[in-house]
Amino acid sequence: MSVERTFSAIKPDAVAAGQAGEILALIQKAGFTVLGLRMTRLTLAQARGFYAVHKERPFYESLVKFMTEGPVIVMALEREDAIAKLREVMGATNPANAAEGTIRKRFAASIEHNCIHGSDAPETARQELGFFFSTAELL
Ligand code: RTP
Ligand code: MG
Repeated sequence: MSVERTFSAIKPDAVAAGQAGEILALIQKAGFTVLGLRMTRLTLAQARGFYAVHKERPFYESLVKFMTEGPVIVMALEREDAIAKLREVMGATNPANAAEGTIRKRFAASIEHNCIHGSDAPETARQELGFFFSTAELL
């Protein structure tokens, strides 16, 4: 294990519900350092690009619409084993399967409206961090 960076976004459902502060507190309690944080609203093109890996999936158009319907809070996070650890703290994609104490168990309403995104691998973390943060911002 080594110190690594990951990308996370608090999704529009949680931002709109006023849950961003509590979600950020859980992330910080789990030992993550926040290197960068910004509220932004994804354009359709950005959301399509961001979730391009899912473009053949039946939920793609709905997912893209959901991700653009309000602001998101994008974050650059650092900790030991950050990518796997964030996924653990987030919980399963479907909140019905998420473990007790996880962010999705607590705040997610459905498999789609699931309140938080986290990168799933070193390559996607690098890509997603670069999508939202400049090198200078993360020095
Ligand atoms: P994320 O990428 O947002 O961190 O979520 P994840 O890795 O846990 O799940 P992934 O399979 O990458 O799916 C991306 C997002 O698409 C929505 N989704 N909807 N309706 C459905 O069956 C369905 N499946 C996935 C969720 O918002 C999910 O987080
Ligand atoms: Mg994913």
